[in-house]
Amino acid sequence: MKRKAAVIGAGGNIGIYVARELMRDYDVIPVFHSYVPSGLVGEFLNVADLDAVRRFVKSKKPKIVVNLAAIADPDVCEKNPELAKKVNVDGAHNLAKACDEVGAYFIHYSTDLVFDGKKGMYKESDPVNPLNVYAATKARSEEAVLAVTKNAAVLRTAIVFGKGAGKRKNFFEHVVACAREGRVQKLFTDQYRSFFYVEDSALAVRSLIENRSTGLYHLGGARRGRYEFTLKVLKDMRLPTGTMVGVSMDDVGSHALRPKDCSLDSSKLTRDTGFTVTPLPEAIEKFKVSLGFV
Ligand SMILES: NC(=O)c1ccc[n+]([C@@H]2O[C@H](COP(=O)([O-])OP(=O)(O)OC[C@H]3O[C@@H](n4cnc5c(N)ncnc54)[C@H](OP(=O)(O)O)[C@@H]3O)[C@@H](O)[C@H]2O)c1
Repeated sequence: MKRKAAVIGAGGNIGIYVARELMRDYDVIPVFHSYVPSGLVGEFLNVADLDAVRRFVKSKKPKIVVNLAAIADPDVCEKNPELAKKVNVDGAHNLAKACDEVGAYFIHYSTDLVFDGKKGMYKESDPVNPLNVYAATKARSEEAVLAVTKNAAVLRTAIVFGKGAGKRKNFFEHVVACAREGRVQKLFTDQYRSFFYVEDSALAVRSLIENRSTGLYHLGGARRGRYEFTLKVLKDMRLPTGTMVGVSMDDVGSHALRPKDCSLDSSKLTRDTGFTVTPLPEAIEKFKVSLGFV
């Protein structure tokens, strides 16, 4: 019999990939908040409600719970810190607690933005220093999860590229639309991240589950500048890049402060699970196909 796995936040940009990937080998319960992507059927849950979370876990009895539910837009978190705390910190704590009570294995998503970006190529042992509300809530969520249960992995991921599936358009879909429609898009020339393909996020979750890995893990590709990387993706997709404008982070205001270099060292994940990200040319090809460019 297939083991039961609940994917919380299955209506989000990454959650849908995780739900679909795990469906190959697990009895998956996709869990939504409000938005439901077409083709998926599942349950609804507000992770901020501890009683509801306990009821869900006790009645559905998943052996594995993956949490991607979050207020994941830094500018939204900056304007709504209370909501960000409830969903990102309390939600993670509630799920970890409920999992601990029934002995379920828990994987919680966090972010590279927990670092201040002064060093780059961060390892799991490096101290966090969040610069904005979103990052601070995610850093607190990590602590909350690891304090409540030992049977959990916290997956700090870099920024993904690929076709999104949630109601929120992701950065790369937006950039592709700008390039195709000749709209100007400003891109930071001095921001570095470990961009990686969205499907790899789901494959990394599978590796963690198969290896029963616990503790902190980093997940990302090679360190690249946002401007340089975006231009490479667009050029490889044979899209025009003339409307992409390089700017310094110092010259563009945003509600939430962003770190300059929060690239991740993912060697621990590879060492412990054997997982490596898809090579970039192959990943860009997959992205192209997913958008219908063949
Ligand atoms: N995207 C990235 O590149 C990236 C990078 C680093 C880390 N991460 C992390 O990866 C995870 C997934 O990110 P994403 O980009 O897929 O975000 P997303 O598209 O915004 O998805 C977040 C999901 O959380 C759900 N949600 C919001 N409030 C909830 C609540 N109270 N109870 C239950 N579910 C709730 C949303 O449902 P509704 O839409 O229906 O409200 C949505 O399905 C997050 O933890 C994020 O911090 C993402």
